[in-house]
Amino acid sequence: MNKLILPALSVLAISRVFAADEVDFKKDIAPVLETSCVKCHNPEKKKGKLDMTTKEAFMKGGGDGKIVEPGKADESEMIKSILLPEDHDDAMPPQDKAPRPTAAQIEALKKWINAGAAWPDGVTLKAPDSK
Ligand code: HEC
Repeated sequence: MNKLILPALSVLAISRVFAADEVDFKKDIAPVLETSCVKCHNPEKKKGKLDMTTKEAFMKGGGDGKIVEPGKADESEMIKSILLPEDHDDAMPPQDKAPRPTAAQIEALKKWINAGAAWPDGVTLKAPDSK
């Protein structure tokens, strides 16, 4: 094979990986929040005064204020609460109450926040068991 073709192909392959790395709200974020959070953070059950089902409510945050700082995942209360040890009183989701996000899901959440936490207009989240 021509010596120039291989490097060119690997550059292509790498840019593919980066493209695949982009976080998609509906595919990568909504299901995580719905599975792990929305059961307790919705308009009927606003634990901590926090409703995570709409863009407006999510961005407003809970009783203690905003839960995400767009562009700053590590300073976002939502990420901090997810990263607490499972048995910590403030850990989210509370121990044994809902599936904890996996490491890959947490990475996706962080990437999403660091990319600006864009929530498409009109998307409303629902807990998996609610109709
Ligand atoms: C089983 C119910 C339950 C689930 C599931 C749950 N939470 Fe909570 N959450 C609570 C309760 C209860 C509080 C209030 C705690 C308090 O005030 O001491 C709370 C409070 C919070 C707060 C603080 C809000 C504020 O301003 O005081 C954040 C942030 C939060 N939850 C994020 C999450 C995230 C993110 C998830 C999903 C990964 C999640 N929660 C899943 C019950 C839940």
